[in-house]
Amino acid sequence: MCGIFGISSTKPISNQLIKGLSKLEYRGYDSAGISGHGIKNQLVTIKATGPIKNLNSKLYKLQGITTGISHTRWATHGQPTLKNTHPHLSGDICTVHNGIIENYMDLKSYLKKKSFVFKSDTDSEVICHLINYYFSKSANMQSAIISTANSLEGSYALAAINAQTPHTIYSACKGSPIILGKDVSSNYISSDMTPIVDHTKNYIPMDDNEFSEISSSDIKIFNKNKRVLSKPTKVSKINKNQASLMGHKHFMHKEIYEQKAIIEDMINRYVGKNKILPNIFGHSTDKLLEDIKHIHFVACGTSYHASLVAKDWIEQFTTVTCTAEVASEYKYKKINVLPDTLFVSISQSGETADTISSLKKALKLKYTNTLAICNVAESTLTRLSGMNFLMNAGPEISVASTKAFTSQLFTLLLLTAIISRRYDNTEKRMVQDIRKIGKKIEELYEMEPEIKKISTKFKNKEHTLFLGKGASYPIALEAALKLKEISYIHASAYHSGELKHGPLALVDRRMPVVCFLPDNHLARLVLSNLAEVEARQGQTFIFTNKKIAKNKKQVKVIKMPDCPDLIVPILYIIPAQLLSYHVAIKKKTDVDKPRNLAKSVTVE
Ligand code: F6R
Repeated sequence: MCGIFGISSTKPISNQLIKGLSKLEYRGYDSAGISGHGIKNQLVTIKATGPIKNLNSKLYKLQGITTGISHTRWATHGQPTLKNTHPHLSGDICTVHNGIIENYMDLKSYLKKKSFVFKSDTDSEVICHLINYYFSKSANMQSAIISTANSLEGSYALAAINAQTPHTIYSACKGSPIILGKDVSSNYISSDMTPIVDHTKNYIPMDDNEFSEISSSDIKIFNKNKRVLSKPTKVSKINKNQASLMGHKHFMHKEIYEQKAIIEDMINRYVGKNKILPNIFGHSTDKLLEDIKHIHFVACGTSYHASLVAKDWIEQFTTVTCTAEVASEYKYKKINVLPDTLFVSISQSGETADTISSLKKALKLKYTNTLAICNVAESTLTRLSGMNFLMNAGPEISVASTKAFTSQLFTLLLLTAIISRRYDNTEKRMVQDIRKIGKKIEELYEMEPEIKKISTKFKNKEHTLFLGKGASYPIALEAALKLKEISYIHASAYHSGELKHGPLALVDRRMPVVCFLPDNHLARLVLSNLAEVEARQGQTFIFTNKKIAKNKKQVKVIKMPDCPDLIVPILYIIPAQLLSYHVAIKKKTDVDKPRNLAKSVTVE
């Protein structure tokens, strides 16, 4: 979703701004713009809809600028047109904004009465006019930004420059992150670390209701009372080389192929011979997990699907009861927290607005503690959560999540094993199964040519059904999500037993039905459900092992390696990821940046 990047330096910065914006591309956007202090400090702005490269032909206008702000916009209020593209301008002031201003209509009518003229349909433009309005009264940018923030309802990360106060970038944030990067003769402001790590690893995250003023030589952070805050500088662990294609055609493909190494690395770090290593979720967490009786999982999208698998695992192997809620629902529900309940949020980015506000709500409830399972160390979620587990899967650039999902599943498997420690030999048996995952993933990659062939059968379809039972049901949900996200084919997932309660009406010889059928105690039941599909001549595609495949000669079977039931969800999703990838390639969609979607969903 929208991204902000700004630099104040002693040297020209226009090329660096463009490069920084490209680093934010993965978040999803549909237009982009840059403003800076030009000759005699007058503001110069360039904007373009579509890809960032469309700014290149206008870049000459920014030649020589040393302080500037830039923005990628993912349309919420108002279409992706030039007039709605940030930065917005009001008098001598330019602003960029991430988030949503909930009271923008009231503010707009107030400002219109004060003769401010609105040029866009966005909620964001009110910010620019408000700063201008308050600056005209106080002639002080700090006061103007604080008064503006006091008037705003909703979430914002905003950056502003003023022609009257050159070489300085002002910012404020609430509910949407801002990170400040610190270097010797340049300082940076950004929505996340990705563009900053190209220049420096030193950063200071801003907290809600904080304000900042940066120049090439100084970073000042202050609160609503203008009290200067002394905040420690942190050192980022992000490696800038991780975000390149390394010979793959798409990030999604690269990330699918990274899964084996990531999981093997996690095994080396966290798994002992017969036990999970002590306190991997943080100091004294084994003791805490020993006493936990309930878990509330909260997440969105793919991360939510991971929580559904975790619920299945934990309830199957322990007496701990779990709920798994979509974050956008959790926030608005009455939540009953029983004693000894742990809150677990799961998020790749750690910046998903719904998940963050759910965690904020949870922090006010009587949970034993809050645990965030996340892939981004310097994220808002990890800063707020009581306990953290960093997956260290490396930056996930493709909008469609793959390696984050299997890393989340792996982490949740570790959690399950630790909780199961209370019961006899369960942890030891789980560890033996966990150790097999890497080798089994290797076998899955060999299936790619076959999957590629099968993808042809989906290319011209408009609808697909995915079926699963037990822990394979969330895998069906995730596989359906992958297919619809990147190939734009409608896909629905069902518990296989639910088919006869309605969806079976959709099945005829044109309907592809994909089924995840591991060889376990549920297989017999799923086979009966599949018989219902076959009787209606649906086109079945079954992911199963050799033994079951033997009796299914008449349908398309994708033979999976034999594996312990515990690790089925981690293994079965990988060929499904490859299937979606190849269908999308055949449909010539933008695999890594599917239409209408954003990588970091920073609005509620
Ligand atoms: C799907 C996908 C999304 C995210 C969801 C939550 O491929 O990536 O469904 O899983 O937006 O994002 P995070 O995990 O960053 O909180």
